[in-house]
Formats: sequence, C-alpha cells, structure tokens
Amino acid sequence: MKYTVVLLASIFILSCNNSDKKELSAFEKSKLANSHPGKKLMETNCYVCHSPTASHDDRIGPPMVAIKRHYIDDSTTKEQFIADMQAWIKNPNETDAKMRGAVRRFGVMPKQAFPEETIEKIADYMYDFEIDQPEWFEEHFNEEKGKHNGNGQGKGKGMGHGKRKHKQQAQTNYQDLPYGERGLKYALTTKAVLGKNLMGTIQKKGTLEALEFCNVRAYPLTDSMAVVHNASIKRVSDKPRNPKNKANSEELEYIKTFKTLVEDKKEISPIVKETEDDVRVYYPIVTNTMCLQCHGKPETNIKPDVLKSLSLLYPEDKAKGYSENQVRGIWNVSFKKN
Ligand code: HEC
Ligand code: HEC
Repeated sequence: MKYTVVLLASIFILSCNNSDKKELSAFEKSKLANSHPGKKLMETNCYVCHSPTASHDDRIGPPMVAIKRHYIDDSTTKEQFIADMQAWIKNPNETDAKMRGAVRRFGVMPKQAFPEETIEKIADYMYDFEIDQPEWFEEHFNEEKGKHNGNGQGKGKGMGHGKRKHKQQAQTNYQDLPYGERGLKYALTTKAVLGKNLMGTIQKKGTLEALEFCNVRAYPLTDSMAVVHNASIKRVSDKPRNPKNKANSEELEYIKTFKTLVEDKKEISPIVKETEDDVRVYYPIVTNTMCLQCHGKPETNIKPDVLKSLSLLYPEDKAKGYSENQVRGIWNVSFKKN
C-alpha cells in the first residue's frame, strides 16, 4: 500500500519533471530554430512579400505558414517539399500554382532567381520548424476550410489561449541586433512598404498609375520609414532614373561587388562600415520580373504609354534595359551607434 503511494507520488513527480522537460525542449527547439540558417534567409529574401506581421488587408503575398500548409500534408517528405519549392522558384506560373486564391488576389509571384542552396535551406527550415504565424491566420484558415467544406465554421475557432507563444519571434527589437542585421531590417521594412504600394497599385490600377506612385511617393515613403527607424535610408544606383539617386564613388564600388556576387549566384550579406559614432550598411536591390514593366527593355517589356510618361518625367533616365535578377541599385542605411 505504502509502496503504491510512493510509486504514485514518484510517477507524479516524474511526470512533473517530464513536463518541465517539455518546456525545456520547446525552448531548445526555438533556440535551434533561431540558429537555423534557413530562418534568416527566409526573412531576408521572402518576408518582403510573405511577412507574417502584415495585417490581412495589408499584404503583398500570403504568409509563409499558409504556403507551408498548402505544400505539406502527412505524406509529404522533406525531399519532396524541397524539390517542390525549387521548382516553383525556378518557374512561378499560374498553371502550377497550388494557391489559386492567392494568385487571384495578388497575381502570380514575380520571378527572381535565388541560389539553389538558399532555397534548400529555407525549405529545410520551413519543413522542420513551426514558422511565425500572423494572428489572424488560424481564424481565416478555418473560415476558408469551412467555406470549402460547405459547412460554415464558427469564427474564433483555433484561437486557443496558450497558442500564441511563437508570435513574439516576429517582433525582434532591432536595436539589439548586430549592426549589419539592424541596417538590413531597416532596408527590408522600407522595401516592404514601397513594394506593397507598388504591387498593390499595379494590380488594382495598372502600371501607368503605379509609375505616378513611384514618381510622387517613393521619396516621402522612404523618408517616413527613416523617421520610424531614426536612421537615414537611401536608394542609390549606378544607372539612376532620378538624378537625385546617383551613387557616389564609394557606393559605385559596393554596387560592383554586389553585381559579381549576384552573377555568381552567391548568398549575399550586407556590407557594414563603421566610424566612431555611425554605422553605414549597404545591401543590393535586385530586380524581379515585375520591375521590368518600368525598368526593362523598351520594346519588349515597357509599354508605349509607360515609356512616354517616363521620358516626360525623367529626361535623363538611365534605369531601363534591365532583365530580372540584376542589381538595380543599393540601399544605403546609416544610423548612430548606441
Ligand atoms: C516580390 C514579392 C515576393 C517575394 C520576394 C517572394 N514571393 Fe512567394 N509569392 C508572392 C505572391 C504574390 C504569391 C501568391 C501568388 C502565387 O501563388 O503565385 C507567392 C506565392 C508563393 C508560393 C506558393 C505558390 C503556389 O503554389 O501558388 C511559394 C511556394 C512561394 N511564394 C515561395 C517563396 C519563397 C521561398 C520566397 C523567398 C525565397 C518568396 N516566395 C519570395 C510574392 C513573392
Ligand atoms: C510602375 C513603374 C515602376 C516599377 C514597376 C518599378 N519601378 Fe523602380 N522606379 C520607378 C520610378 C518612377 C523611379 C524614380 C523614383 C523617384 O523619382 O524617386 C524608380 C526608382 C527606382 C530606384 C531608385 C534609383 C533610381 O533609379 O532613381 C530603384 C533602386 C528602383 N526603382 C528599383 C526597382 C525595383 C527593384 C523594382 C522591382 C521590384 C522596381 N523598381 C519597379 C518606377 C518603377
């Protein structure tokens, strides 16, 4: 009898220990996730459009977690998932798209080349780890599922309480990051704001209206992001459209360096320069197919009305004749050391 009690008690204690262990392993798992190279590559290359934090109405593309659910079911192996991702990145097109709703809403993903190893690491990370999930996602997903099953499921399902623990991963405090990563975050959040407005306008109103947007709004939007981050944020180019965006001789050097890296399909890290008080961070701006409507070849990619408008607004325009996956310019982000 006594033994049973002791035994029961020790089972209790053991199971308590066990749940402690589970906590620890969740923590370990999140540590592992954070050190996986695919995580950072995904945040750098994909979150501009697939951000988990943009609200439902404020997006360029679906969140990564939605992509994961469309590509992986119980029978999908990691090899298969990696192969599927490689195939999509090499040739995004309407016929092969699995996410019909997303294609209708956002248009097909613009094509941009990425090194195969980059995609492999990103897919490896996505397969093995729980990735950041926007707050509205679970509810939306259930609603969509309800619709497709023909039985409208109640709102608010799956918003269970203890479930939000991964949320904070998305909201790192930028000031705690190493300088290079911090500057890169400032550039990428600015790129996301510009990109959202640009793609949204193209999608809803056409290229000509979007051109007006770039002409009038690119500067104020970049400046407002600079205010948000308390930094200076510039886009400069060796072949500027707006003469105000002309790269200086130091910037031209970095553009050359990045061009070689992109041509060689190398993974790119920011260039970081420090003075006693300040940090400057440089990172390339690379074209995808969408950019060619305004930066591509005049006969093939840029429509006559857009071309005409460009020549009126920018008589000295040098920013035409690009193809996809070329260095269009660089970000120059600078901020005070703290
Ligand atoms: C310039 C914006 C942009 C960038 C950058 C981007 N995507 Fe996308 N992506 C989209 C849009 C828009 C869709 C939704 C339309 C579609 O499915 O084609 C999408 C859809 C997808 C899909 C689902 C395709 C399907 O089957 O319908 C995958 C997979 C994907 N992206 C992977 C990636 C990965 C991996 C990266 C980073 C290496 C990335 N994307 C970067 C815009 C982008
Ligand atoms: C709808 C037309 C349009 C599209 C699409 C477009 N741009 Fe531009 N881009 C412009 C205009 C107009 C300017 C000049 C803005 C200004 O006057 O500040 C510009 C300027 C730039 C600059 C600043 C340097 C310069 O030449 O003045 C960069 C860098 C740039 N674009 C990159 C891109 C990239 C990368 C893409 C695709 C992701 C893209 N653009 C898509 C119209 C466009």
